[in-house]
Amino acid sequence: MIRKITEEELLAQQAYVRAFRHLPGRPETYHIVTYGCQMNAHDSEKLAGMLEAMGMTAAPTREEADFVLHNTCCIRDNAERKALGNVTWLKEIKKIRPSLLIGVCGCMVQEKGMAEKILNQYPFIDLAFGTGNQYKLPELLYRAAEKRERVVAVEEEQSTLAEGLPIRRESPWQAYVTIMYGCNNFCTYCIVPYVRGRERSREPGDILREVEQLVRDGTKEIMLLGQNVNSYGRELAGGWTFAKLLREAAKTGIPRIRFMTSHPKDLTDELIETIAQTPSVQRHFHLPAQSGSDRILKAMNRHYTAEKYLDRAEALRAAVPDIGLTTDLIVGFPGETEADFEDTLALVEKVDYDSAFTFIYSPRVGTPAASLPDQIPPEVSAERIDRLIKAQEQHTEKRLNALIGTRQEVLVTDFSRRDETMMTGKCGRNISINFRGTKADIGRILPVRVVSAGRTTLRGEKEIQEASHE
Ligand code: 5AD
Ligand code: SF4
Repeated sequence: MIRKITEEELLAQQAYVRAFRHLPGRPETYHIVTYGCQMNAHDSEKLAGMLEAMGMTAAPTREEADFVLHNTCCIRDNAERKALGNVTWLKEIKKIRPSLLIGVCGCMVQEKGMAEKILNQYPFIDLAFGTGNQYKLPELLYRAAEKRERVVAVEEEQSTLAEGLPIRRESPWQAYVTIMYGCNNFCTYCIVPYVRGRERSREPGDILREVEQLVRDGTKEIMLLGQNVNSYGRELAGGWTFAKLLREAAKTGIPRIRFMTSHPKDLTDELIETIAQTPSVQRHFHLPAQSGSDRILKAMNRHYTAEKYLDRAEALRAAVPDIGLTTDLIVGFPGETEADFEDTLALVEKVDYDSAFTFIYSPRVGTPAASLPDQIPPEVSAERIDRLIKAQEQHTEKRLNALIGTRQEVLVTDFSRRDETMMTGKCGRNISINFRGTKADIGRILPVRVVSAGRTTLRGEKEIQEASHE
């Protein structure tokens, strides 16, 4: 059973929030450095929400902050090395400014043995906590700031769900909404189930209330988050499925809905039909394949074959012809032969993705694949990923070119990075479109005609709207 954080526990944290505000010499400013996926990005918004409630303000850079918190990722070795490298760099700042408080949280802290490692090898870290006790940030930071003692808190149990915490959202137009935590799938390469715990779905009522509030606040797009959103609601009463949740979310009137991530084994016809029938669900589906080889898929514990995957992709395309598919692919999984890799290339050819995230397999301590024989030499993996990226680039080019001449709805989010007279935003397919516009366009959903395609982005022209209802 999921244990929700009780009213008393929340009240206890609120008492620390108040006490912190009156703590003499307390840190005034914070800076959060975030690594990894959207789930972490959203966790950082929740952490920032708590810090603001404690009376702190955001500092634009690490150098200017009294408290620097690193929200870490451990999915691959390079993510971990980057985080530890940056934390160690702060040690030098602390020599000049001893009052600086250094914190580390997120997935890496939750890894087995990491708490001891932090205590022994990183004495300049003042505060470390795992994903399971994020909601206790007010208490933990209070203790670190008041007594100047080191605080390391990692809870084994990840059963707690915190509702009602403040969130400081990065964007007024786009919002992450967590629908479930954790993962039950234990793909043999993946550390997520060990650091994020078992699947726990949020109550639909809590989710829908959050979305309704976002609609009132003027949010244009939500991204529903979970490691495997397709298995949403399995442990809840009332026959909830992800498809049903999508239909209910659409009824709130939110203009655009996206979601991340889906496991192909749980992609139901009900979900496909719901997407087809719900215009606010955007025409983009991220469906990680990981490999195109049945042998490797089995060794990865993915529970599908390349054929089954293709069947799901085709069902999506049949029901929603203009849908854009994207994927995650791993090369160099232990035992991957040239023939296995060619199966992955063949899958890329058949599916014709809009784009793909490609990764070199990185052994993670404690996962079954890390102790498999036949680990692939780095130079073989490097050569394979190059070939894979090149193969996908051709499809991206083809897919982007096919959009020239079409009219796309763009949620305008910013100026273009290179040119101040150009605006940028994403179309339903999740592809960036740049077009000539003004600051006043930001936050609006505008019709844009695609005129040309770059390598990864599109260029368009704003269409004149006959009557604006906005
Ligand atoms: N090595 C390489 N890639 C990994 N991923 C997850 N674990 C590993 C690993 N050990 C990739 C998968 C997943 C994405 C988020 O990260 O492709 O879908
Ligand atoms: Fe990791 Fe597999 Fe779970 Fe995704 S579904 S988080 S790859 S174990």
